[in-house]
Amino acid sequence: MVYQVYPRSFADGNGDGVGDLAGVRSRLPYLVRLGVDALWFTPWYASPLRDGGYDVADYRAVHPLFGTLAEAEELIAEAARLGLRTIVDVVPNHVSRDHRWFREAVAAGPGGRARARFHFRPGLGPDGEHPPNDWQSEFGGPAWTRLADPDGTPEEWYLHLFSPDQPDLDWSHPDVRAEHEDVLRFWFDRGVAGVRVDSATLLVKDPELAPVSAGTDPHPYHDREEVHAIYRSWRALADSREEPRMLVGEMWLDDPDRLARYLRPDELHTAFNLAYLGAPWDAAALRSCVDATCRAHAAVGAPPTWVLGNHDTTRVATRYGRADTSFDFTTTARGVPADLVLGTRRARAAALLTLALPGSVYLYQGEELGLPEVEDLPPDRRHDPMRLGTDGDGPGRDGCRVPLPWSGAAPPYGFCEDGVEPWLPQPGDWARLSVSAQDGVAGSTLELYRAALRLRRAFRPPRGAEQPAPHWLPAPPDVLAFRHGGLECRANLGPRPVELGADRQVLLASAPVEDGVLPPDTSVWLRAADGPAVASSPTDTPGAGGRSDA
Ligand code: NOJ
Repeated sequence: MVYQVYPRSFADGNGDGVGDLAGVRSRLPYLVRLGVDALWFTPWYASPLRDGGYDVADYRAVHPLFGTLAEAEELIAEAARLGLRTIVDVVPNHVSRDHRWFREAVAAGPGGRARARFHFRPGLGPDGEHPPNDWQSEFGGPAWTRLADPDGTPEEWYLHLFSPDQPDLDWSHPDVRAEHEDVLRFWFDRGVAGVRVDSATLLVKDPELAPVSAGTDPHPYHDREEVHAIYRSWRALADSREEPRMLVGEMWLDDPDRLARYLRPDELHTAFNLAYLGAPWDAAALRSCVDATCRAHAAVGAPPTWVLGNHDTTRVATRYGRADTSFDFTTTARGVPADLVLGTRRARAAALLTLALPGSVYLYQGEELGLPEVEDLPPDRRHDPMRLGTDGDGPGRDGCRVPLPWSGAAPPYGFCEDGVEPWLPQPGDWARLSVSAQDGVAGSTLELYRAALRLRRAFRPPRGAEQPAPHWLPAPPDVLAFRHGGLECRANLGPRPVELGADRQVLLASAPVEDGVLPPDTSVWLRAADGPAVASSPTDTPGAGGRSDA
C-alpha cells in the first residue's frame, strides 16, 4: 500500500505552521505501524507554491519551507531502513514562471531561442489581442496568457494548460527531454524507488495547435501517440538501475484500454485508477469498474491499482455522504449537503472493499482517520488556483488539504506547536478524529485500517502468484462478493441487510456484524472457505522487511 504524503499538511517539525520533512521524519514510526509499504510525496521542490508545488522552479532543490536537500536524502534513507520505499513527483508538462528557463524565455523576447522550450505564439486579431487558439486551462479561462514588455507594450502569448503560473514545456525540444531524464537520474541517485508522473497524458501538443472546437482526432493535446516514446525512454532509465525503479502515471482517461496503453511492458509500471476514484457508491458501477480495470491491465501485464481520494479530490467521507457519490471536477461544489455519518460508514466499507482487491492501493493521508472535506474555509485563507465553476469563488481543493490532527482537544491538534497558526485552518471538531483519539480504540477508523493492512499482508497470495482479477462469488444485486487469496470480501452497498451465513468466521468488519447479517453500507472480510494456503497469522511488523509489492 502506498501512502500519499502531502508534506505541507502532514506534520510541522520546525514550528512555522507548515508541514515539512522533519515532521514527516518524526512520524515515520506512525506510518510503519499503520502498515504502509511506500510513501509518495507530492512536490517538495523549490517553488512559489502557486499550485501547491506543482509549479516547480528547481527540481534539484527542496523548498526551504519543507527543509533541505540533505534532509530529503536523510528522509529517503531512513524510510528505506524502516522498510518504506519513497516515490517522488515529477511534473513534466509545465514548470513555474520562476523556473530559470521561463525567465530566460521572457528575457529573450519574441523569436528568442530560449522561447523554443515553451509554446510562445503571436495572438490573433489585428493587434494580436486574441489568444492563439481556443484551448482552455484546466483551472478555467483561456490556456494562454499574453506577456507585456517592461514598458507595458503587449507581446507574445504563452501556453499554460493549468494556471498562468505554470507555462507548458514544448516536448519537441531536445533540452526538455534531456533535462527530465537528468531529473530522474538525480532522484534515482538519491535512492527513490519510483516517480509519479504528473498530468502524464498532456505533454505532447499538436504542432499546428488545432483548435479543440475542430474536434480533431487525435485530440490536440490529450493522449497523443507521441507521448508514449517519452515514457519508453523513462522506462529504459528506470530499468537500467541495479534496483529497477518504478513509474506511476497520473492519467485522467475514461477508456481503460487507452489507459492501459501507457502500461505496456516498456512504458509506465502502473497508473492511478481515477475511474475507481470517480465511481459512485454503487455495486454495479464499482463492479464494472473493477472488471474493466482488471481486464485492461491484464492485457498489458500491469498490476491494477485502486484509489479512493487524493489531494485534488473531495474527501471520501464527504463524497459518499452526498446524494451524488461520484466524483468529477465539474460537479464538485461547495454547499451540497453531506451526511457525514453515512459517508464515514461508507468510506470504512469502501476501505475494506478496496484493500481486498488484487493489485496495489494508494491511500491519501487522513483517509485512515476518516477525515471529511473542510467545506467552510474562509475565502481569504484559501490557496488553490482551481476555483470550480463559480467565477473564481468555488471551493477549489484546499478542503482536502487541511493539516492532519495528531493529538489534543483543539487546533492545531499537534500538527504544529500550540499557539502557532497552521497554514490552513483546521475545524474545531476534529479532536475525536486525531491519531491519539483513535489510537488503540477498538472500532476506530485508524484501527480498522491498521487491522486491514495487517490481515492483507497475511492473507494475500504470495508475491508472484497474484491473481489478475477478483474471483467473484454469487451475491444479491447490491452486494459485491469476491475472493482474493485467502480472503473473501463481502460489501453491502445497498440499503437493506443481507444474510452472511452464521457459520462464517468474520476476520474484520467495517461496522458491527451480528447474527450472521451484513448491515447496509458495511464490508466484511471472511476467511475464504476454499482459499489457497496462506500465512496463518498476521505479522506484527508490517513495515519492516515486508513484501515488495504494495
Ligand atoms: C495534477 C496534480 O495532482 C494537481 O494537484 C495539479 O494541480 C495538476 N496536476 C497540475 O500540475
